Amino acid sequence: MRLPRSVSDADVSGKTVLVRSDLNVPLENGAVADDMRIRASLPTLALLLESGAKEVRVCSHLGRPKSDEDRAKYAMTPVEERLRELLPDKRLRVLENTRFHAGETANDPAYSHELAAGCDLYVNDAFGSAHRAHASTEGVAHLLPAYAGLLLLAELDHLGKLLGDIERPFVLISGGAKVDDKLGVLQNLGGRADTVLIGGKMAEQIRVENPLDFAVELPSDVVGASEFAENAESGVFPFDGLPDGWLGLDIGPETREGFGRAIAGARTVFWNGPMGVFEWPPFAGGTKAVAEAVAANDQAFSVVGGADSVRALNELGLADRVSWVSTGGGASLELLEGKELPGVAAIP
Ligand code: 3PG
Ligand code: MG
Repeated sequence: MRLPRSVSDADVSGKTVLVRSDLNVPLENGAVADDMRIRASLPTLALLLESGAKEVRVCSHLGRPKSDEDRAKYAMTPVEERLRELLPDKRLRVLENTRFHAGETANDPAYSHELAAGCDLYVNDAFGSAHRAHASTEGVAHLLPAYAGLLLLAELDHLGKLLGDIERPFVLISGGAKVDDKLGVLQNLGGRADTVLIGGKMAEQIRVENPLDFAVELPSDVVGASEFAENAESGVFPFDGLPDGWLGLDIGPETREGFGRAIAGARTVFWNGPMGVFEWPPFAGGTKAVAEAVAANDQAFSVVGGADSVRALNELGLADRVSWVSTGGGASLELLEGKELPGVAAIP
């Protein structure tokens, strides 16, 4: 794999550096629910500060804001507070959510110029967003001397192992909410895996229509809920036997066992996306079972990616039991597909 040039080779003394981090963390009741992505961004920021940068200007998107109300919900304030607790330095400046500008996702040069204004250097450390060709992840890299951050490089290094000769069986576990984003990726990379286990919202969608042209293992049972609410009436049903109008919000006990057996026999594991609405205790069991099965397999090279899967792993205290905890969900999947990520390609 082609590696972009490293921030550790940049001369940053006295300079104003624009850093794109992926600080898109899970939020709950307006607070940061898991700060892994913030902590993972610290080494690059600390390096720049220690190397004498005049100002370190950090930017990130947060969530997928669409309406005006979303501006309050996805303001960077709680993220900035946490970042400042972890790295108190007056030279650090945190910009507002890049997705509050329409030019961000459109990769509009006007917005890239706005970001670049007053900066001498650009560092992309946002591995989790490297699959997006947006103004802050791609466009601005063409306007300033661009370097890769330490996290971005570490991710490419570790995930690169999955692109080489891997030990088999290779078990891929996919779930999470961004189904439309991920189905296409899965279609391209599913053939590399020996077993593809699908749960969560992705399984619910595949039940209706399966666009994948290879065999996947779907749940045999699900935890159904009468409505989308934490305290909804719930029960275990066969995958194809949910009562009309009910929603499958977790994989069932039989599926957990089956998935667990497949994971236990693996030599390479990649897990992205929770198996259900794990933020709500009645629907957390499936994600917990998968996290435990992945952690229990000491034989396998195991990678867990995506902010939510990682949050589940952290909450269970299992993060140090897997080979690599990736800050990227969709980005890891696209890398695994063998694609060059636009955020990486833009760095010399
Ligand atoms: C993620 O959480 O996968 C990244 O931060 C990218 O977010 P996005 O899917 O909204 O672009
Ligand atoms: Mg995410």
